[in-house]
Amino acid sequence: MSLHEFIAGLPKAELHLHIEGSLEPELMFELAKRNRVSLPLDSVEAVRAAYDFSNLQDFLDIYYSGADVLRTEQDFHDLGLAYFRRAAADSVRHAEIFFDPQTHTDRGIPFQVAIDGLLASMDRAEAELGISSRLILCFLRHLDEDAAFATLKAAEPWQDQILGVGLDSSEVGHPPSKFQRVFERAGDMGLKRVAHAGEEGPPDYIWQALDLLKVDRIDHGNRAMEDPALIRRLVEQGMTLTVCPLSNHKLCVVDDLARHPLPSMLDAGLKVTLNSDDPAYFGGYVNRNYEAMADQTGVTRDQLVEIAINSFAGSCLPEADKARHI
Ligand code: HPA
Ligand code: ZN
Repeated sequence: MSLHEFIAGLPKAELHLHIEGSLEPELMFELAKRNRVSLPLDSVEAVRAAYDFSNLQDFLDIYYSGADVLRTEQDFHDLGLAYFRRAAADSVRHAEIFFDPQTHTDRGIPFQVAIDGLLASMDRAEAELGISSRLILCFLRHLDEDAAFATLKAAEPWQDQILGVGLDSSEVGHPPSKFQRVFERAGDMGLKRVAHAGEEGPPDYIWQALDLLKVDRIDHGNRAMEDPALIRRLVEQGMTLTVCPLSNHKLCVVDDLARHPLPSMLDAGLKVTLNSDDPAYFGGYVNRNYEAMADQTGVTRDQLVEIAINSFAGSCLPEADKARHI
């Protein structure tokens, strides 16, 4: 069996996926037409060609403008279902997906529209594709604490249908400490906590995510490799890191996939998982991330299995379900 066939058949969980980042240009045009939204570029090819980023902010500007075509519950449902179909083809059995409610409420789309559409797609994914999934509500860290508190308040009617809270958007200049109190409230509500940290930001942001936000996972975490004491802490705590190689390459977090820190992260004993982040923008779904690392860094089949096991172990599935997958 070829390496790519092996990866294709490997059951896995996806723990770092922004549903808005799975909006393929084809669906973007379909929704633009459905909702009579005009797009700045006039073809799928032109949109794809524009996905040439030099840093996180470059990408975010395009990502937020793309999300403007999402207007109705049906749109969010279609977006979700398209992702789950793609994930099922990659042997994803469980997904914990991020959504960014503020990206929608700030342009007049009610919280209810986004979440009910996504929840409907998740029900279909379970029934039709056998994929289980949960939602993680992300706060946009470039916005202020009050806005994050208001978002958490808006989520209260759906509290039982939300797995946890996350922190995304522009990292540098927006440290985890800015959201300490919001994360404390989320913890009091019984929600899981995760945060993007150490993607572009310094190792100190990872320390803050651990000590101030009390996170259950670190999203990205690449820059932990600059701080041996932090590596020790993450290993001791058995902390799961949701690493996204194609994203790292497209956003110039790493200049060459062959020099991605994944092998040294595994050698250090970190609980690494591989994920697609924003697959429509970064050139591939989860299996492409596994393939890129296998082809370019030489991680072994045994290590790929270890990564897939980490993905279930680091998920928030009940222990009995984890055991079933592992
Ligand atoms: N980093 C931070 N925020 C994001 C990302 C990312 O890769 N994708 C969507 N929002
Ligand atoms: Zn991300």
